[in-house]
Amino acid sequence: MCGIVGAIAQREVSEILLQGLKKLEYRGYDSAGMAVVDDKSNCTRVRRLGKVQALADAVDENAVLGGTGIAHTRWATHGEPSEINAHPHVSNSISIVHNGIIENHQPLRELLQQRGYVFYSQTDTEVIAHLVAWELKSAASLREAVQKSVTQLEGAYGMVAMDSNDPSRLVVARSGSPIVIGRGIGENFLASDQLALLNVTRRFMYLEEGDVAEITRRDVFVFDQSGNAVEREVIESNVESDAGNKGKYRHFMQKEIFEQSTALINTMEGRISHDAVITESIGVNAVEILNKVEHVQIIACGTSYNAGMTARYWFESLAGVSCDVEIASEFRYRKFVTRPNSLLITLSQSGETADTLAALRLAKESGYMAAMTVCNVAGSSLVRESDFAFMTRAGTEIGVASTKAFTTQLLALLMLVTAMGKQQKRIDAAKEKEIVEAIVALPAQIETALTFDKEIAALAPDFAEKHHTLFLGRGEFYPIAMEASLKLKEISYIHAEAYAAGELKHGPLALVDADMPVVVVAPGNELLEKLKSNIEEVRARGGLLYVFAEKEAGFNNEAGMKVVNLPKVSEITAPIYYTVPMQLLSYHVALIKGTDVDQPRNLAKAVTVE
Ligand code: M6R
Repeated sequence: MCGIVGAIAQREVSEILLQGLKKLEYRGYDSAGMAVVDDKSNCTRVRRLGKVQALADAVDENAVLGGTGIAHTRWATHGEPSEINAHPHVSNSISIVHNGIIENHQPLRELLQQRGYVFYSQTDTEVIAHLVAWELKSAASLREAVQKSVTQLEGAYGMVAMDSNDPSRLVVARSGSPIVIGRGIGENFLASDQLALLNVTRRFMYLEEGDVAEITRRDVFVFDQSGNAVEREVIESNVESDAGNKGKYRHFMQKEIFEQSTALINTMEGRISHDAVITESIGVNAVEILNKVEHVQIIACGTSYNAGMTARYWFESLAGVSCDVEIASEFRYRKFVTRPNSLLITLSQSGETADTLAALRLAKESGYMAAMTVCNVAGSSLVRESDFAFMTRAGTEIGVASTKAFTTQLLALLMLVTAMGKQQKRIDAAKEKEIVEAIVALPAQIETALTFDKEIAALAPDFAEKHHTLFLGRGEFYPIAMEASLKLKEISYIHAEAYAAGELKHGPLALVDADMPVVVVAPGNELLEKLKSNIEEVRARGGLLYVFAEKEAGFNNEAGMKVVNLPKVSEITAPIYYTVPMQLLSYHVALIKGTDVDQPRNLAKAVTVE
């Protein structure tokens, strides 16, 4: 969580820092701050409660001058959102910005208080500022002070230290929270995400776990965990620099919903031939690994978990391979049994989710035959630490509510399942052709689903006044209902629950009355008749039904039931297709409620703390 930007240049950097922070607001947005030093060691620190715009307004009023600076947008962990708790935190000449959590902050705080340091904030970060200031007293350089300090820290950090007495360098350290260095000509930059720096450079160097780097205008010197000088590769980024703009859309979430057919086309490109999935495109050694897999263990959080839950149905029904799906924060803290020839798959949009990353690290020591990730961010920690990565190509997703990352995850997983089933001779050529045809038809079908935008928007007022909503689905549409319910609660703040429709009569039916909207995902598959019975159970209790179905299913608008009749699509890809109207419904409810759609309260895009 939180976003970091830093710059060291011959020009003024405050505008670069602000522009970078605006791109990072998706990571946290309860307060923001910057500290900038000029060549004469004058340091100006400005912090504001609220979004980056409040900081920008403050900088507009009183110019912040200097060529060396660090900045931060915060998602509170220790200490409420406030100006005092906003970063940078300072101690003597040292300013610090930090992402992550210092778990041993309390004993360190006590130790530093005994040494005479006074704490002004409730944050764990202020501990780092005083620690570096203390170590600097006896260290030969700021780098050495940071290296000595990080050995005393437990927890996760991506951090930058600046010494106003020496504006010619910044020192960064990474452990459990990403830092990327942007290389310029005669100037250098750093950030917690390359997106913050795309306006100033496209050449990036990713720090590895335990690295400490010293950055000057001309050079970057990287040291590994043991203090040895190391080289880190400079990679040219191909991320679009306008990825952070809304274009003609009102919100990033809306833009990202409407980008889904393109994202799907990009994700399938080069991975399917005429009527087959190209197994080799899944990753290095994929053929060998997929031949041998006897069990799949998926680990993920949030929306990515819902994608895993959907894929479980595909792994077992199409590829005939058993599959378990578990929430990363549960998996990492329980004793588990690794089945023989198990493939571990982590799913993540960001590739930086702390719980998923911790689960991957744990699993790598637990006898899995290989660790694969399905991820949207190249160069992310999950991608770098997994044996191989199958990238979704959703493009940058800014809206906190995940949309195109989910549908592209589903597509990637479906291609993976197909390749696995084929390698294991459980999917024959005819079935593979059927799946590939369904995949190829999907982008155009998604475009059609998007034309239902107005019709779905017309339903939204029915939900906006309600306090609860139930979502129902069966089979692989149960996780689609789960994802729909997550979307609604996340951006509209309406309490929502998803149930496997057959489970209704085992308890939740007691909640159903005329005040309870019940949304049903009702595609035409073999479970439709069963689902119709569940719908009748709701009708009989006076529940308000909203049924998303295909025309052929025979649902009609009538008292107590509103129907969105969608064109029929292949049963195989229908979970991806039905996701889109669910996203539109949440979006329109949130619009009516007037919430902050792209940055809903209390949340952040990349959850890099556990
Ligand atoms: O980056 P990840 O996919 O690992 O993130 C996992 C969850 O934090 C994420 O999906 C979250 O649930 C979204 N905000 C849901 O829209």
